[in-house]
Amino acid sequence: MASPRGEFSSRFGFLMAAAGSAVGLGNIWGFPTNAASNGGAAFLFAYLLLAFALAYPALMAELIIGRHARANGVTALRTIATGPKSKLFGSVVGGLGIVTVSFILSFYAIVSGWMLAFLLQPIADVAGLEALSDWLTVDGILRNSIFVISFMLLTIFIISAGVKEGIEKWATRLMPSLVLILVLLIGYVFTLPGAMEGLRAYLVPDFTVFAKPGLLVSAMGQAFFSLSLGVGTMLVYGSYISKNENLPVIGSLVALLDVGIAVLAGLLILPAMYVALASGVEIFDAQGGLIAGPGLIISVLPALFDNMGAIGGFVAFAFFALMTIASLTSSISMLEVPVSFVVESQGVRRPAAAMLLGSIIAVISLVIVFNFDLLFEWVVTVTTEMSQPLLGLFFCLFTGWIWNRSAILEEIKQGSPQAASGFFWRVWPFYIRFICPAAIIIVYLQ
Ligand code: PHE
Repeated sequence: MASPRGEFSSRFGFLMAAAGSAVGLGNIWGFPTNAASNGGAAFLFAYLLLAFALAYPALMAELIIGRHARANGVTALRTIATGPKSKLFGSVVGGLGIVTVSFILSFYAIVSGWMLAFLLQPIADVAGLEALSDWLTVDGILRNSIFVISFMLLTIFIISAGVKEGIEKWATRLMPSLVLILVLLIGYVFTLPGAMEGLRAYLVPDFTVFAKPGLLVSAMGQAFFSLSLGVGTMLVYGSYISKNENLPVIGSLVALLDVGIAVLAGLLILPAMYVALASGVEIFDAQGGLIAGPGLIISVLPALFDNMGAIGGFVAFAFFALMTIASLTSSISMLEVPVSFVVESQGVRRPAAAMLLGSIIAVISLVIVFNFDLLFEWVVTVTTEMSQPLLGLFFCLFTGWIWNRSAILEEIKQGSPQAASGFFWRVWPFYIRFICPAAIIIVYLQ
């Protein structure tokens, strides 16, 4: 028999877990450079608008379905289906979500493994292990394999312990540490030459970018990936929320935390990049844009830390601790999606399911590591640019067109008795029926 379902023990626990899922590599290396290359505060403004007008309604759909069904993605969608056809559609969407999130985790774990290797490097330096220190920062199949496996073992370890003792316990420890490290790093970087120029590049608005056709599209893609939408992560976390919680309120807190930390990350990354520039590091790519993505994290910033002298080791350690925490609180939310399905539908015990599924995903990661040039970009594109938005669309269609409206209201009313007359209920159903699907289709066609 499957073990009884877990539940988050407090609002804070859920918020840390959900914000932990949302805040990840996407926020730290995606958002800041995207903003700086696209009109600074103007992009920020567009991002805020889209996060609240489009991503938040989609997030709410997942949270409401999850809490109503109190089950994994596949079972939850089948529960709210209204006939054999929509049940089948539910199984397909839930199943695709599980497959997609497993492949997202397979590449995410590789990058997270790099973060772990870079975290150990300053320690190897202090210990005087020069050869090890070099090996840790040089790209190689052996290093990548060892660290992807180590990172997956950490993820499996936390998920094996369950909702309260694993996800909630670690998220409530790690997320406050993440914010603390972030704030300390910002404070330090602000004292260095070049930082103010970075701040200007990040924040001075250039509203002419609104004329750029791709701006809203890229802001929306960022918002969907960042809020972990479409693949059932938030649905599963929603299924562990107490029935006494006010869903519209905690959903908006999650969105606020995610956006807030992305904005904070910008206050670190952009000033740090311009400090690096002032110390002679190249921060622009061949097209003249700011170096973004993995290149930013594993080449630009380490070069800066190297130039900092003795304190560089501490700063590097703090920075890669930040990155590792951000990755780990996201990766656990990804592994929870297939694990909850296997535990609930096959009656497998949680630790066994976590080990089995984690190992399968680690094997996929290793296949990617061994064929990196061939597979990495491809897996990223298929999962995050093709599958994720499409699944986001299906979730909106399910909630807006298939699920019974009065059942949705009943669910929201638990924990928010006045919901029927509130602002959320007046606006959200229309959004999820028309605006969200239309917007996703527009993005998809681009
Ligand atoms: N939101 C995470 C990030 O910003 C990524 C993620 C995607 C997590 C999908 C879970 C599911 O890095």
